[in-house]
Amino acid sequence: MDLVATLRGTGSVREFTDEPVDDDVVARILDHARFAPNGGNRQAWKVVFLKDPTVRNAMRDLYLGPWRDYFAQTVAGFTPWAPIGDRDAEERVIESGRLNGEYDEIVRDRVELTFAAPVILAIFGDFERLVATDRDLGRYTMVAGASIYPFMWNIMLGARSEGLGGVITTMHARVEPEVRELLHVPQHLALAGVMMLGHPVHQPTKLRREPVSSFATVDRCDGPSFGADL
Ligand SMILES: Cc1cc2nc3c(=O)[nH]c(=O)nc-3n(C[C@H](O)[C@H](O)[C@H](O)COP(=O)(O)O)c2cc1C
Repeated sequence: MDLVATLRGTGSVREFTDEPVDDDVVARILDHARFAPNGGNRQAWKVVFLKDPTVRNAMRDLYLGPWRDYFAQTVAGFTPWAPIGDRDAEERVIESGRLNGEYDEIVRDRVELTFAAPVILAIFGDFERLVATDRDLGRYTMVAGASIYPFMWNIMLGARSEGLGGVITTMHARVEPEVRELLHVPQHLALAGVMMLGHPVHQPTKLRREPVSSFATVDRCDGPSFGADL
């Protein structure tokens, strides 16, 4: 596969055919993914391959509430759970979405499709091994997760090389205590995300992204725009 085309055209897949995926393929995808860059090469990732239908269904059900809350915030024009934002306004929108149930049906249908994926992987980061250089800044750490998400992106690319598609999801972080209990997660692990992989009903390759000049500047954050000629 052409590297640039793959970088520019590996969209999220949330709907899968019935075709199964062999364990060998999943093992191979993980075997490629482990070469991801990561802080101090501590390789602080942990993967739980969810196979038991009871566990998979429980994870599906846990996804519903956060997904509905996400929807309510998006429809109201918020960036859901942005670290900086109006939390009271956010809470009001979430609460009204819960009360009137207007998103329940659409959310249930979508989640049902996504969780029919033949492969579901829960991915964790190990707080005892993550090099979080921004740990002491008194704000959210950006750096800790950065040692896990390239690994997850490698899973996406590895899946693509096997003719599969997938999606990185993070909704379960909203219900992490329940996930901990269900998957027997020790305290030093934090959930980074849940990935679904399978044969795509459709592999999106035309992705919507803003141009370079919208986010790149020279010398200072408020410096001249870079990349306008692309
Ligand atoms: C950190 C992260 C969290 C995400 N969380 C979710 C999620 O919880 N559910 C979901 O359906 N997609 C999730 N996505 C996928 C994004 O929605 C998707 O990448 C984005 O909308 C752009 O669409 P595209 O990947 O098809 O181009 C996530 C992606 C990333 C990188």
